[in-house]
Amino acid sequence: MRTFSNSVIKWQKVNGRNDLPWQIYRSPYRVWISEIMLQQTQVNAVIPYFNAFMKSFPTIDKLAESSKDDVMSHWSGLGYYARARNILKTAIILKNNYSSELPCSLLDLKALPGIGRSTAGAIYSLGFNKSAAILDGNVKRVLSRYKRISGDLTKTATLNKLWEISDELLPKKDHGTYTQGIMDLGATLCTRTSPGCLICPVKKKCLARIHNETTLLPNRTPSKKRRKKEVFWLIPKDEDNNVYLEKREDSGIWGGLWTFIECDEKESLKKIYKSKFNTDQSSFKKFKEIEHSFSHYDIKANVFVVSLKGKPNPQSNVESIWTNPKELQSIGTPTPIKKLITEINKNG
Ligand code: ADE
Repeated sequence: MRTFSNSVIKWQKVNGRNDLPWQIYRSPYRVWISEIMLQQTQVNAVIPYFNAFMKSFPTIDKLAESSKDDVMSHWSGLGYYARARNILKTAIILKNNYSSELPCSLLDLKALPGIGRSTAGAIYSLGFNKSAAILDGNVKRVLSRYKRISGDLTKTATLNKLWEISDELLPKKDHGTYTQGIMDLGATLCTRTSPGCLICPVKKKCLARIHNETTLLPNRTPSKKRRKKEVFWLIPKDEDNNVYLEKREDSGIWGGLWTFIECDEKESLKKIYKSKFNTDQSSFKKFKEIEHSFSHYDIKANVFVVSLKGKPNPQSNVESIWTNPKELQSIGTPTPIKKLITEINKNG
């Protein structure tokens, strides 16, 4: 009987995805960048970002020599910005310590910023065609069904079991095709709802299918109630409709990105504004309320605009700029901030 890996490899060659941009000219560098972009992000959303990134940073050297602003601007809209900060950190390490190449060693890969066990496995197998297990969200689902593992996927014991299974099922050759195959199987056939068991290459030995439990596995823990945070944003606007932005410190969810002045309370927003702009006037106009979701919490932002004469030079202990939608291309701004700047510009 054909083994799990043989079936997956054979299936991948015919039914898998083989023409994605990072598969066409494959290199460890391109695999690395695509794998980081594909964390928590759908393939279709990643493609234009990947192509633009490779055009601007065709080599690890070029990336390592780029400014943080330049790299962040290429991530603008993709979210989870720590990924971009770690990419730049890793590129600099590669340039300094690894002759500007990704190391062909699982241990060394795992030690680089932003590269965890599964991503290291993906780079090692897809980029170098070497044997390594992966365990991303799709693979967790495939393996927990195939071996009928009912444990809670948020528990270390369950994950250890799945890593063990992922290791045991590895093929003796065709490592890259196998890794791509198990990813593709999870993304296109062994989907969360209504999996395509009838045409699945491993259906004969899939324990969840045999026991009619595909809808029950993997075990889904009830999602925790999400935190909601209320914030107040201030957009100072000059006579030419330029808006004032500050660059956030490196840590935190929007670290390194350009955003509005933010406070937890409206009163503090006024105080900060008055001291920054050295004025007693504060005729804030409510522009709108917006909601935005992060991975673990949601925010409701109350957005205020204040119109200023001229273009004052405020007091700030962080970097600041006056900008407009045209200039936004060259700096990293989160999507909701970018949208608001465009709206304000349109509304005059
Ligand atoms: N998701 C993560 N890695 C991927 C890959 N190489 N191809 C398609 N989707 C993916």
